[in-house]
Amino acid sequence: NNNWPGVIEAYREFMPLKAGAAPITLQEGNTPLLPVPELAKKFNLDIELYLKYDGANPTGSFKDRGMTLAVSQAAAEGSKAIICASTGNTSAAAAAYGARAGIETIVVVPEGNIALGKLAQAAIHGAKIIQIKDNFDKALELVKELTDNYPVTLVNSLNPYRIEGQKSAAFEIVDALSAAPDILAIPVGNAGNITAYWQGFNEYFEAGRIREKPEMWGFEAEGAAAITYDRVIEKPETLATAIRIGNPASWEKAKNAARESGGLISSVTDAEILEAYKAIAATSGIFCEPASAASVAGLIKQARKGELANGSKVVAVLSGHGLKDPELALEEISPPKAVEADLNILLKEAGISK
Ligand code: F0G
Repeated sequence: NNNWPGVIEAYREFMPLKAGAAPITLQEGNTPLLPVPELAKKFNLDIELYLKYDGANPTGSFKDRGMTLAVSQAAAEGSKAIICASTGNTSAAAAAYGARAGIETIVVVPEGNIALGKLAQAAIHGAKIIQIKDNFDKALELVKELTDNYPVTLVNSLNPYRIEGQKSAAFEIVDALSAAPDILAIPVGNAGNITAYWQGFNEYFEAGRIREKPEMWGFEAEGAAAITYDRVIEKPETLATAIRIGNPASWEKAKNAARESGGLISSVTDAEILEAYKAIAATSGIFCEPASAASVAGLIKQARKGELANGSKVVAVLSGHGLKDPELALEEISPPKAVEADLNILLKEAGISK
């Protein structure tokens, strides 16, 4: 659709934006829902598998869906500044939408644990970037305290407008499939997105647009699996820095989504994430960031345990673009070598003969 207006206008009747507020939009949403039979086959998954590629959003992650609403509302309320804690993607989206709205943006990130592309985005959009010598959970604690006491708008997913916007991804999936899938697999970090999808499916259910809701399958990284193990992780660790979170803000809501839908919250190791990350890129042509691959890694894990029913219609959410974290991609392949510029050498190196 060439005239896609962004998620606020596309789903106006479901969006609670202040009356008369002008949407601050980058025409986010309307992202690909790709059938990937080759990927399913590679792992002997006898399912109908789709990838919801939210890395195709304007800033390269699903955060744009929520940020358009949160920043539009902040602008309508006359807010002069927005702030967030972030593992990177929220900061990139806040910086972009803040720039578009002409609102000052402050982002608080864990030093040394945010992917290069995300830092570059926040910087180029002109956000004030504060790196703290601690992790995401501490950063979130600080910005919550700050916004409770100072006139700055919090744009983390604790801001209800973030969730309202992000639920649009569930609408798009249903609109594309003309039904809900049987299973929605999704990476879980701070647990806002699984909460948003569940809300979206419920709203479509209540509006009579679907007859069945999907099972919600959320996957945390093993070293940051607070919900899975039902305890706060003081020092979360995973190479999937986007979901390196030990005390998720929407913990209870994520548990509810899993319970009410008959789904689950489980975890995948870094090795399982990397396996899925590389396989998605190699067989589907989609380059997602490591955290995103947790959804597919989780499906593979459940299938290996014999807990993924044959014939299921499954959507795996790929939450962010692979270019966000080029350093990790380069670590995972052998670096290309340089040779003399000569046709014979080129043929030999490329393995081409007549
Ligand atoms: N995937 C990516 C690429 C993310 O950036 C995040 C969260 C998630 C999955 C998990 O989503 O937190 O709603 O459960 N990123 C946040 C950030 C924390 O600051 O960018 P969630």
